Parts: sequence; C-alpha cells; structure tokens
Amino acid sequence: MNAKMEAIYLVKQGSGETAFERRALTLPTLPKNEVRIAVEGFGLNFADVMARNGLYREAPPLPAILGYESVGRVEALGDEVRDLTIGQRVLAFSRFGGYATHVQVPALAVVPISEKFSIDEATALGTQYCTAWYAAEEALRLYAGEHVLVQAAAGGVGTALVQMAKRKGCVVYGTAGSEEKLNYLRSIGVDHPINYQKEKFDDYIRRVRPKGIDVVFDCLGGKGFKRGFKLLAPGGRIAGYGAAERLDKKGPFATLSLVFGFGFYSPVGLLIPSKTIAGVNMLRIAEQKPELLRTCMLAVTKLAESGELNPFGGGVFDVAEIGKAHEMLQNRQTKGKIAVRW
Ligand SMILES: NC(=O)c1ccc[n+]([C@@H]2O[C@H](COP(=O)([O-])OP(=O)(O)OC[C@H]3O[C@@H](n4cnc5c(N)ncnc54)[C@H](OP(=O)(O)O)[C@@H]3O)[C@@H](O)[C@H]2O)c1
Repeated sequence: MNAKMEAIYLVKQGSGETAFERRALTLPTLPKNEVRIAVEGFGLNFADVMARNGLYREAPPLPAILGYESVGRVEALGDEVRDLTIGQRVLAFSRFGGYATHVQVPALAVVPISEKFSIDEATALGTQYCTAWYAAEEALRLYAGEHVLVQAAAGGVGTALVQMAKRKGCVVYGTAGSEEKLNYLRSIGVDHPINYQKEKFDDYIRRVRPKGIDVVFDCLGGKGFKRGFKLLAPGGRIAGYGAAERLDKKGPFATLSLVFGFGFYSPVGLLIPSKTIAGVNMLRIAEQKPELLRTCMLAVTKLAESGELNPFGGGVFDVAEIGKAHEMLQNRQTKGKIAVRW
C-alpha cells in the first residue's frame, strides 16, 4: 500500500477561514536528487495571502498547496544525495507544496538547522531572510554609513533587511503602521522608525535628510515604489520585491493603476544621476539559479547560528488555525515571521 501524507489545500479564493481544506494524498516517489522531509511546521508568506486573494499570477491553479519553506527532519534521501543524514533537522525551500506533512525538494534547497530555533524562527530563514539577503547582498550592495529605507520594516522580510543593514553599519529608516510596531522597530535597531499613519514616509525623510538617501527596499509597489525612487540621492539604488499596494486596489483597472503607479524610467534618467533599479523574485532565482538560492540559504543560516542575525518569531499557529493566521498576516496584525505547526 502507498504511504500517505496530508496537506492543506487552497481550494477557493476569499477569506482565510473558508479558503483551505485539509486532505490526504499519496506520497510521491522520491527522485534520486531529492530529499523527503517529515515536516514539523511551515512558514507563511505574504505571497500566500496574495495567492488566496487571486492576485499572485505565479501561483498554481486550484486546488493548490501553497508554501515556500518548511522545517523538519530528513526522512528519506534520493540515491544521489550526500551530506545529509536521516533524522537530521533541516530547513527546506520549496516551490509551492510547503503546506504539507511531507515535502520532497532538491537537495540543493535543503540546509541543516539546529534545534535552537523555534518553527517560526527557523522558517523565517527560508523565503524572507533569503529574499532580504539576495536583495541586500547580491542584487545591491550596502556600504557602512549609507542611509537605507526599509518599507514594512516590522514584517518578515523587513526585519531581515533591517538586521542586514545594521550589520553593515547603515543608518536605517523603517516604516510601519502602528505605535506597537514602531516600538518593535526601535528594539531591532531602526534609527528612524516612521509611522506612515501619522506622517508620509517621504515627507519625513525629506525633512530629516534633504539631500536624499542611498538605498530603498520597496515591497509596496505602485506609487509607493515611485515615491521611494524619488528620495534617492545620486548613486542611489532601489530594490523592488513586492506589490502589496495591489491588495488595497479594487475595480477593473486595479492592476493597471498599480502598474502605472510605479512610474516609467528611461536608461538615460538612471545613467546621469547614476541610479540603479533592481527587481527581486526569489521564486525565479530558485528555479533558474538554484545554486544562488543555496548560497543565500547557507549565508543566512550560518549568521543566524552564530547569532549575527536574529530571526524574530512572530508566532506559531496550530494547523487548524491556518485561516486565522492568514487573516492576521493580511490585516497587518503580525510582526516578524508567522508559521504553522503540524
Ligand atoms: N520578490 C520576492 O521574492 C519576495 C519574497 C518574499 C516576500 N516578498 C514580498 O515582501 C513583502 C513582505 O513579505 P512578508 O512575507 O515578509 O510579509 P510581512 O512583511 O511580514 O507582512 C506584510 C506587512 O506588509 C505591510 N503592508 C504594507 N502594505 C500592505 C497592504 N496593502 N496590505 C497588507 N499589509 C501591507 C504590513 O505592515 P504595516 O502594518 O507596517 O503596514 C504587513 O504587516 C510582501 O510584499 C511580499 O510579497 C517578495
């Protein structure tokens, strides 16, 4: 008889409370370059919220198993896999399929992780820290003393970017939408916490830094991206890695409005003031450059193990509470990383 596993399927778009169903399925055969992991827990990402709302075009057709990262123990190794052992605790990056009791992923996307990390801390090191690492260390480069803006700085990727920029000796501006989150930003070392509900982030930065800033990490997209770009001093760089603004837009022209909101940029307009625009999509990196994803995974886990980076666990939910956890992530009620345990 074929062995079974369970997964949480996204069965329909809409509210987190009604969108998911727990189902059993047969464990697939293990390819020779892959690792099977018995999952303790998996992480939630904002892209999952976008997928649940039908706004993530890379998501698989329904019913779909979402999920980019899991922590658990190696259960089986493909014939060609070396350097991992049965029972070892590992972090795995998956291209969807993470909301499951078992994941099977290429060995390149699996790294050891020690017992000291809780499920939310461990899974933070998957998509969110790797995205931040790729943006801040591979796509762009930060230098000591630079002034750096991190949007949604209290979130998963945001927390990681703040830590990476502080590690490099940068002056960090971080946005968040509540006083509670601002206190959190102070606790992780943000020099200029900005409550965008009280003052526009660009008004604040123009007031305290009229000559402009060096780097912007933008996950808002649309007009938020354009407003960030306009803050850049000569030599400035901006990394765009999200389009959260899309969630707030309704109506038939919502996507068009988001796209136009970004603004239009000519090479000449970048060349003369020496500005850089970088786009970041970790899913594409994982697909097209798996060795680069591995470089990011090894870098962030090494620094977290040594205590140089400190993933912030924002909470671990029971699998029965996945709908609630999704709603909280969408409604800006979370800090750092949230995860789900089996
Ligand atoms: N390109 C990639 O490869 C990649 C990879 C990972 C994540 N991302 C993107 O990075 C961003 C952060 O992802 P995450 O998983 O770490 O999530 P997160 O930041 O932990 O959670 C989302 C946060 O974004 C802020 N936000 C801003 N605009 C929002 C809106 N319109 N609706 C809801 N929240 C909004 C909220 O913080 P405030 O309360 O402070 O507003 C919210 O708490 C997302 O945009 C995600 O799509 C991209």
